Amino acid sequence: MLEQTRVRPLEQRLRAHLAELERDGLLRTRRPPEGIDLSSNDYLGLATHPLIKERMAAAVCAMGAGSTGSRLLRGERDCFTALEQRFAEFKGTERSLYFGSGYLANLAVLTTFPEAGDTIYSDEWNHASLIDGARLSRAERVVFPHLRPGTLPEGAFLVTESVFSMDGDIAPLDEYRKLGAALIVDEAHAVGLFGDRGQGLVGGDGVFVSVNPAGKALGVAGAFVAGPAWAIEYLEQRARPFIFSTAAPPAIAAALDASLDVIAAEPERRERVRFLARYLRERLTDAGIAVPMDDSPIIPVIIGGNERSVAVAAALQQDGFDVRAIRPPTVPAGTARLRISVNVGLSEHILARFVKCLVEKLCAACS
Ligand SMILES: Cc1ncc(COP(=O)(O)O)c(C=O)c1O
Repeated sequence: MLEQTRVRPLEQRLRAHLAELERDGLLRTRRPPEGIDLSSNDYLGLATHPLIKERMAAAVCAMGAGSTGSRLLRGERDCFTALEQRFAEFKGTERSLYFGSGYLANLAVLTTFPEAGDTIYSDEWNHASLIDGARLSRAERVVFPHLRPGTLPEGAFLVTESVFSMDGDIAPLDEYRKLGAALIVDEAHAVGLFGDRGQGLVGGDGVFVSVNPAGKALGVAGAFVAGPAWAIEYLEQRARPFIFSTAAPPAIAAALDASLDVIAAEPERRERVRFLARYLRERLTDAGIAVPMDDSPIIPVIIGGNERSVAVAAALQQDGFDVRAIRPPTVPAGTARLRISVNVGLSEHILARFVKCLVEKLCAACS
């Protein structure tokens, strides 16, 4: 009874916050995949690729479900070390280190390399994991207007996504390389899709480290930080998300090894996705829906209002299209949107049908 009285003010406060979210059209609901996928990050369809599933299942049978410890203790396995070496070669860097998620990898990079007295320059549209990493760092943080870092002092860290996750536009990486900063590039929506071998938009060339989440185009989970041997060695010694977390299940390494095999053997997957994305951008534009003409599979259809975005997404879901509304704080206030992502399993026919439905729903939401 006494306990209940103590927590009541907390309950009231949290209920008031939930009510505010509801009032602002910002309450999230969870919905499992249903209908035609126009919202996942499984761009290459690798999450369900038969070879990857088979190799992952075989690895579970051979090595068990869990890793039983952190990498620096009993969780270490040769399959992770071999995979990290393979990923580094794929990426064109000396070494890489695997983390349990892209979020953790970004926290690790930004809390380990920049120190007190350093400055992190971060694009205002960077992903929450980069924002949180910079906030947790002891370095000073400067948020710059999207794609416009200006001139940077010597020794600064410049942090950007290569393909931005909610807008699908691409950072001017060649310009950034000339700025003399230690460049940190999040390749979440580029690795597997761009580059002559699917290695992404950056390698070791003029970039300090890249973060390569593996739960998107690679179809599995986790993330590789890739860079020079001395930086990766330091990360291994000092990054708290690496040291103080149980290693991923060993079968994940087997699945990612298979994923790299598929990316090498089936380049037509990434070519097809980029073709379909261009096709959809053109059909949307022809239909009078303004979308940017960037070369990525992420296409933002900006609606503006939170409730209206949710209503349009719900109407499309009713018609069998799995489209999700993205609202603040994921995107800036007033720019709630449908984030359409294109994957290799779609077809021109489906996309043309989708555009027709979208036009109808947008008109209905206006009237
Ligand atoms: C740009 C970017 N960075 C990092 C992440 C986090 O990666 P993960 O989902 O593996 O934690 C995401 C995924 O949401 C992302 O879009």
